[in-house]
Amino acid sequence: MKLGVNIDHIAVLREARKINDPNPLDALGICKLAGADQITIHLREDRRHIQDSDAKNIISLSQLPVNLECAIEPSMIDIACSLKPHRVTLVPEKREEVTTEGGLAVTGEISRLQNAIIKLHDHEIEVSLFIDPTLEAINASKELGAEWIEFHTGSYANVYAMLYANLSSTHCSIKELELPRDILLQKLHQELDKLTILSKKAHEMGLKVAAGHGLNYQNVQAIANIPYIEELNIGQSIIARSVFTGLEKAILDMKKCIEK
Ligand code: PXP
Repeated sequence: MKLGVNIDHIAVLREARKINDPNPLDALGICKLAGADQITIHLREDRRHIQDSDAKNIISLSQLPVNLECAIEPSMIDIACSLKPHRVTLVPEKREEVTTEGGLAVTGEISRLQNAIIKLHDHEIEVSLFIDPTLEAINASKELGAEWIEFHTGSYANVYAMLYANLSSTHCSIKELELPRDILLQKLHQELDKLTILSKKAHEMGLKVAAGHGLNYQNVQAIANIPYIEELNIGQSIIARSVFTGLEKAILDMKKCIEK
C-alpha cells in the first residue's frame, strides 16, 4: 500500500503565527527517509495553510512525486498547470468548511471538470478526482478521462469514531450518536463493503484507486486491507502524532499499520 503524506498541517501550525516556522519544506527529506511514497499538498483558494511559494518550492524540490489537491476553479487550474506537479487531485472546496467534507459532485460539474481535466492533461499532469464512493461518481470519472479516483473515507471514519473514539470529536449529530451499537457496527460494515465493491469495480474499469480523509492509526487497517485501493493520502493523524514522536517515527508507525 502506497502512502501519500499530506504535509499541509505543518503549514497550519506556521500560519497560526504567520511566521516562517515550521516550514513544510523541511518535511520533504524526512518523508522520503521514512519511506513515504508521495507528498500531498492542498493549495486552498483562501490559502489558509500552504501558500503559493510553498507549493512552488515543494514541487520543485521534492524527490517524491507531489500530488497537488485543488479546487476546479480556472485560476487554481492555471496555477497547477504552471507548477506541473506529478498529479492533481480535484477536490470540492467551500470556504467556510474546516476541511474537505465530501467528494466532488461529479455529475453536476461535468463541464467545469472536463475543462480542467483537458487543461491538466495538455500539461501532462495526471488527474485524480476526490469522490464519494458511488457508482455514479466512478462512471462519471471514467467518462471524464481521469486516471485516478480517490474515495472520500469521511463517512467510514465518522462511523468508526462513533463506535470507538472520543465522541465529541466526530461531526455527527446527537441523533446519530445515540444509535445502538449493533446499528453502528452494521453501518461500519456497510461503508467497508461499499468501498470494497466499488474499488474493484473502478479497478476493472481501468481507474487507479486511492482513498483518504479522516484516516488514523486506529481506523486505517481495514481500509488498507481493501484489495484494489493502492494508495492512501493521510495528513491530520500523522502530523498530529509527529508533534510528540517526530515526523519520521509517525510515518514509520503509519506504514506499519497499512502494510499488506
Ligand atoms: N485526501 C484529500 C483529497 C484531502 O482533501 C485530504 C484533506 O486535505 C486528505 C486526503 C487528508 O485528510 P486527513 O488530513 O483527514 O488525513
